[in-house]
Amino acid sequence: MIITNFKLYESATGDKAVALAKIHEEVAKETGANIQVSVQAIDLARISQEVSIPVFAQHIDPVNFGSGTGHILPESVKNSGAAGTILNHSERRLKREVLEASIKRAKEIGLTTVVCAESPEEGASFLEFDPDFIAVEPPELIGGDISVSTSQPEIIEHAAKLIGSEKLLVGAGVKNGVDVKTCIELGAKGVLLASGVTKAEDPKAVLLDLASGL
Ligand code: G3P
Repeated sequence: MIITNFKLYESATGDKAVALAKIHEEVAKETGANIQVSVQAIDLARISQEVSIPVFAQHIDPVNFGSGTGHILPESVKNSGAAGTILNHSERRLKREVLEASIKRAKEIGLTTVVCAESPEEGASFLEFDPDFIAVEPPELIGGDISVSTSQPEIIEHAAKLIGSEKLLVGAGVKNGVDVKTCIELGAKGVLLASGVTKAEDPKAVLLDLASGL
C-alpha cells in the first residue's frame, strides 16, 4: 500500500491536487498497485468525486453535529467521499485523549484510520485504541532526502515486532521503488510519503517506480 500525503504543498492543492490525484489513479490502474491519497479538507469533496482510488482526510476532530465552529466534522469528511483519515501526524499532533476520541468517532461512521507515531514504542502504545493502521515516521527524517529504510532500517524491524506487519506503515524520506521494497522486506505493509511525489518534476514516473517496489 502506498499513501501519498499531499500535505499543503502548492503542487498538491486546488486544481493541482485534482490533477495529481488523477495521476495516482492512472498509476493504480496501470500497475494494479494499492495507491491512495490524503488531501487537505478543502479539496476532499472535489477529489473524491474525480477519482476512484481511496481518498483520505489529513485530520478530523472528535466533534458531533452542532456547535464547534472551525472544527472538522467526521460526518462531513465521510459525506465528502473520504475513505478514511490520517490522525496525529507529526505536523498535527494530538493529545492522547483527543486521539482516542477521534479514532472512536472515525470508527462510529466507518472511516479508516491511519494513526501516525514518531517511534515504534509510541505506535505500539496506540494499539489499545485499535486503529486500522499505524504509520511510524521519525520526525527528523520527514521531508528529507534520506529514507527511513536507509537511515534507520532497524526502526522498521522493531516496529514490525511491536505493532505487527498487518497494521504497519512507515514513512519519512521515501522516494523510490527500492525504498518501498526495503520497507516491505523489513516488515511494513506499506508506506506513507509526501515530498517524493509532491515535489517531483514527473510525479507519474516517481509513482510508477514506487509501485514497482510493492
Ligand atoms: O505523511 C508523510 C510524511 O510525513 C513523510 O513526508 O516528505 O518525508 O515523504 P516525506
